Amino acid sequence: MMSGINIKTSILVLLLAPFAAFWYSRYQVLSLAYFNAQSRMPRHANFTSYEIKFADQIRSCEDALLVESRGLAIVPCDPGRETWNTVMGNFVDNAPPDPNAELYAYNYSSSSPSASSLTRIRILNFPSSTELRTLGLEYHEPSSTLLVTNHRRAGARIEQFQLDLDTLTATHVRSLPHPLIYAPNSIAALSESEFFVTNQHYFPARSHRLLWALETYLAPPIASVAHVRILPNGTVDAAVVARLAYANGLALLRHDTTLAVASTNTRLVKLFSISSSSSTTSNHPTLTQSTSFPVPFLPDNLSVSKGQHGDEALLIAGHPHLPSLGAFARSRRTCNRPELLSDKPPEQREEAEERCKTLSAASWASEWTPEGGVQHIYSGWEYPTSASVVRDKGRGVGIVAGLYAKGLLVWRD
Ligand SMILES: *[C@@H]1O[C@H](CO)[C@@H](O)[C@H](O)[C@H]1NC(C)=O
Ligand SMILES: *[C@@H]1O[C@H](CO)[C@@H](O)[C@H](O)[C@H]1NC(C)=O
Ligand SMILES: *[C@@H]1O[C@H](CO)[C@@H](O)[C@H](O)[C@H]1NC(C)=O
Ligand SMILES: *[C@@H]1O[C@H](CO)[C@@H](O)[C@H](O)[C@H]1NC(C)=O
Repeated sequence: MMSGINIKTSILVLLLAPFAAFWYSRYQVLSLAYFNAQSRMPRHANFTSYEIKFADQIRSCEDALLVESRGLAIVPCDPGRETWNTVMGNFVDNAPPDPNAELYAYNYSSSSPSASSLTRIRILNFPSSTELRTLGLEYHEPSSTLLVTNHRRAGARIEQFQLDLDTLTATHVRSLPHPLIYAPNSIAALSESEFFVTNQHYFPARSHRLLWALETYLAPPIASVAHVRILPNGTVDAAVVARLAYANGLALLRHDTTLAVASTNTRLVKLFSISSSSSTTSNHPTLTQSTSFPVPFLPDNLSVSKGQHGDEALLIAGHPHLPSLGAFARSRRTCNRPELLSDKPPEQREEAEERCKTLSAASWASEWTPEGGVQHIYSGWEYPTSASVVRDKGRGVGIVAGLYAKGLLVWRD
C-alpha cells in the first residue's frame, strides 16, 4: 500500500518536475519586480568616483565599445528609439520617423573639458533616404570594420562601415540583409568577414504581437545566435548555431574559443564553447553550452575587459526592475519632446511634466570571472536603463550606457 502511494507520488513528482522548474525560473524573473523596487533594491558603487557626462548632448545610447589602443569609446545613440523600439515592442505609429541615429566617439583618456572630448562621427556614403535605427555595434580593429545593427522600419539588417579613427569618419561599405538576421541585437566579430549575431526573439514584436509577448514572458528557448560569413562577392551566408530564450548580449572570450550569451528573460548568462567545423559541407562552427550563471537582474549586453596579464573579466549590464523600465521607456517620447505637451490643457501638462521629473529607472552592472564569480560594480537609480558596460582596466575608466538615458555614466577607479 505504502509503496503504491510512493510510486504514484514519484510518478506525479516526475510529471510535475518540469512545471516546477518552469515556474521556479519564471518566479526568479518576475519576483525582481518586488525585490528590486526602488525602496528595496540593494545599492552598489564599487569605484572611486562617477559622473554622468554629456547629458545635454546625447541620449538613448544603448551600446558602447572601447578602442583601448586609442582611449576612445564609440557609442551609437538613437533618440528614435522613443518612437520605434523593436526589442521592447514600443511603436508610435502616427509619429514620423525621427532623424537617423548617430555614432559618437568619446575620448575618455582626455583630461580636457568634457564638451570637447565628444565628437560626432561623420557617416559617409550612406543613402540619405535610408533609415538608420541602431542597437548594437561591433568593431574589428585590425581591419577597421564597423558592424552596426539597423532596425529600420523597412526591415532589420546589419550595416557594414569602414571606420577611420584618425578622421572619425565611417564610410558605408554594404548592407547585410539575410533571413536569419531578422531581429539583430548584438554582434561579436571573429574577423572582418565573420561574426556571431543574436536575434533576440523568434517572433518579432511588429508582426506577431501576441506570440512576441508570450515568448517574452514564458521564455521558451527559441531565439537564436546566428553565425554569419560575408562571402568575397559580398553576399551573406548564415546559419543558426544556438537557440536559447531572449538571446541578447554577446562576447567572445578565451581567444575566441568561448562565446558568452545573455539570456535576458531567464536571468542567465550562458557560455558556449566554439568548435570550428572540420566538415567541408558546413562553413559554420558548432556551439556547445559549457556552463551558465545567474545574475540578479535581466542581463542585456556583455563585454570583456582585459587585465595586464591577459586575464579576462566578463562585464554584464542589465535591467533590475522591469516595471520602471517599461514606464520610463514609454514616457521618454513626450518627456524629451516638450512640444508634444504644449497643446494639452494646463492641468494635464503640469501632471505630465511632474511625472517626467520624478520617473526614474534602475541600472545594474556587474563583472564575472570564473574564479571570483559575479561581483557588482554599480546598482542604483541615479542613472537609468543600463544596457551596456565597458571597462578599460589600465586607465581605470568604466562606462555604462543606458537604453533611454541622457548621457553616459563614466566612473574612475
Ligand atoms: C570591487 O571590485 C574589485 C575588482 O575590481 C573586487 O576585487 C572587489 O571584491 C569588489 N568589492 C566588492 C565589495 O564587491
Ligand atoms: C584624446 O585626448 C588626449 C588628451 O587631450 C590626446 O592626447 C589624444 O590625442 C586624444 N585622442 C584622440 C584619439 O583624439
Ligand atoms: C554589446 O556589446 C558587444 C561588444 O561586447 C557589441 O558587439 C554588441 O553589438 C553590443 N550589443 C548591444 C545590443 O548593445
Ligand atoms: C556569391 O558567391 C557564392 C559562393 O561562391 C555563390 O553561391 C553565390 O551565388 C554568389 N552570389 C552572387 C550574387 O554572385
